[in-house]
Amino acid sequence: MGNTLTFLGLESSCDDTAAAIVRHTPGERPKILSSIVAAQTDLHAAFGGVVPELAARAHAEKLDLCVEEALQQAGLTLADIDAVAVTAGPGLIGGVLAGVMCAKGIAAGAGLPLVGVNHLAGHALTPRLTDDLAFPYLMLLVSGGHCQFLIVHGVEDFTRLGGTIDDAPGEAFDKTAKLLGLPQPGGPAVEAEAANGDPASHTLPRPLLDRPGCDMSFSGLKTALLRARDQAVATDGGLRRQVRADLCAAFQDAVGDVLAEKSRRALTLYLDRNPPEPAFAVAGGVAANRHIRALLETVSDQSGARFIAPPLHLCTDNAAMIAWAGLERFRAGHTDDMTLAARPRWPLDQAAPALVGGGRKGAKA
Ligand code: KG4
Ligand code: ZN
Repeated sequence: MGNTLTFLGLESSCDDTAAAIVRHTPGERPKILSSIVAAQTDLHAAFGGVVPELAARAHAEKLDLCVEEALQQAGLTLADIDAVAVTAGPGLIGGVLAGVMCAKGIAAGAGLPLVGVNHLAGHALTPRLTDDLAFPYLMLLVSGGHCQFLIVHGVEDFTRLGGTIDDAPGEAFDKTAKLLGLPQPGGPAVEAEAANGDPASHTLPRPLLDRPGCDMSFSGLKTALLRARDQAVATDGGLRRQVRADLCAAFQDAVGDVLAEKSRRALTLYLDRNPPEPAFAVAGGVAANRHIRALLETVSDQSGARFIAPPLHLCTDNAAMIAWAGLERFRAGHTDDMTLAARPRWPLDQAAPALVGGGRKGAKA
């Protein structure tokens, strides 16, 4: 097929080393021919967060192997690849550098074009890979490292309506799990406990709901939870199982309420622009939470926007989204060369004010 493109994508901006191959023929649905993700969870488990230096070394060791595996699973060789796409930021700089160097090596060696991809654009363009979504749509990225509302107008055109001013919600779930003696990653553990708890048992704050706009804050919520835990321990002489479940339910409820209300506001701003086919898409690990997902879906339905949540393995960090975003950039006429730089910070919407806070998983663009 003349216009068919087959892209190799590389991702190494945080704690997952990933390589994937995506093929697209205009007029047809894109195909993920392979998607390999090597997680570094065990490597960082003892440290309570991602250790950048360890992450970078592990990426440097694993990238080649992931590429080989991705080619093998797709039944292809580099001769079948049209271009190499790589995450060039934002993220932990050592890991991003490892990916960019590897991609440059492959591109130079095989004589292929190189396309640098913004990791957040990878997440933001995923609904077009999975659901053929038309521009402009509203996107909520909600994970351990990101939390922001974006209107996606085009491959390179984003408006950020708001985001977290401190922790990402996944980070807050992870810290809550740690405070309550639950395993990591905290999100699934807290969700499971919350199923047996009473959300009304404790009154936790809904930060920034009293202020206009779509910005969010989750660090105060975590502090409030710590206080509630200490109070319960002082009263009962230890953390009772039921109290732990109640605290999880109250915490999950508070995060859900904040995300739902801010989504309502973001949807209003988005719908004010009269998009022809209104749609609200979510991505990121926290979107796996059934309570939060149901709340977001309800808000979306109430506003008349189509709700889209790509399958979880494409919502969390992966390289298929990078291959796809690279392919979209390439079709729009963009390529990079050997001067492509690795960037620790790289906001999608250059006009929006910078977000503060670094976060456990590195810089939030
Ligand atoms: O998107 P992701 O895999 O990685 C990045 O952070 O980039 O998201 C992982 C985050 C973790 O903080 C994890 O605790 C959270 O998503 N998470 C959840 C759930 N599953 C994963 N949070 C709440 N409920 C869940 N079921
Ligand atoms: Zn991510």
